[in-house]
Amino acid sequence: MRLTLTSFALLVVSSFGQPLNDFDEASRDYTLHAVNGVDNYGQTQSSFTVLQIPDMHYTGNPKYPCNGPPFNPCWESNMTDFINELLDQVKPNIVVFTGDQVENTGIRHTAEEVKKAIDTYSTPVAQRQIPWAMVFGNHDEGSSFTRTQMLNYIASRPYAYSQSGPTNVDGKGNYELQVQTSNGKTSFRMYFLDTGVKGSISKKQNDYIRQLAASHKNENALAVMFYHIPVPEYILGPSETITYGHQGEKVSNGPQSGLMDTIVQMGDVKATFVGHDHYNDYCIERRGVQLCYGGGVGYGAAYGSSSLPRSARVIQWKRNSTDEVLTTWKQAKGDFSIEEYLLFKRGV
Ligand SMILES: *[C@@H]1O[C@H](CO)[C@@H](O)[C@H](O)[C@H]1NC(C)=O
Ligand SMILES: *[C@@H]1O[C@H](CO)[C@@H](O)[C@H](O)[C@H]1NC(C)=O
Repeated sequence: MRLTLTSFALLVVSSFGQPLNDFDEASRDYTLHAVNGVDNYGQTQSSFTVLQIPDMHYTGNPKYPCNGPPFNPCWESNMTDFINELLDQVKPNIVVFTGDQVENTGIRHTAEEVKKAIDTYSTPVAQRQIPWAMVFGNHDEGSSFTRTQMLNYIASRPYAYSQSGPTNVDGKGNYELQVQTSNGKTSFRMYFLDTGVKGSISKKQNDYIRQLAASHKNENALAVMFYHIPVPEYILGPSETITYGHQGEKVSNGPQSGLMDTIVQMGDVKATFVGHDHYNDYCIERRGVQLCYGGGVGYGAAYGSSSLPRSARVIQWKRNSTDEVLTTWKQAKGDFSIEEYLLFKRGV
């Protein structure tokens, strides 16, 4: 038999035991489900709890020393411990990693090392059978592993809900996830956007999420959005005071790309959550939308302060027979007090 290109490809594929491209996003069901419970008033309540984990900057080396160590010894492995702690404390229904999962700009990694770093942060989540999703930051991509390659690898991992999104839209990982209540209706939605390395959001990206929201208009579901680099609207005015959270550093925003206009037009997004600035953890309201920071989880290669506890954010959607609310709180290392902040409330 003459070895044609096709039969050669088939041979290569079969020698790996399974097709190289065995993962098919299109055939997978990404629907999430709200939790049914009973609230303090004995009323039936649906809820969905998101744990936002920002800015880990994993190198994959458990002994990588902490930048700004809050204790000694302090290594990257302390971050893995912290993530395990967070998962057990919060018991989230999904974990969202909001960018800079991997430190691959300052420190160059091989593709295998990047995969190891991805496995290190996703395994504790998957082991607890918790779904997880992510957006890229500006540190994830290195020359050894492109955004596309990373996303393909991530999407194939157990319990991964991240998707590539349409290929004709700029960036990698522009997608949405919906949460259904027991009546089969979508009641809560999460949008994910890739802000690239500079924080700009292209016209195609703006158009894409605007169209997504328009197609869901009749569902009247509340939504939140996750992306890595803050939009300029996160910047505080000179005399502006924050009522929730703290500003520990200047906002490193992306260029004005019209995302805020898009969000206002979408109408369903009541809050957005970014990372990027590890020392900022406030929420500020703009045009009826809460713009929130996640804080910084990174021990290891991430920049950090020895005096500022590493922290993550919890976002919770809840609905009973009368009200629907979105709340958030910060979950800091060694501090389990919950200062719940109301993001949005409406009657049902
Ligand atoms: C529904 O929950 C809200 C708090 O989210 C509470 O104030 C309200 O009383 C609850 N209503 C009922 C009927 O349980
Ligand atoms: C950080 O990790 C090291 C190595 O596992 C451990 O000895 C130390 O107790 C950890 N520190 C904290 C505060 O958990």
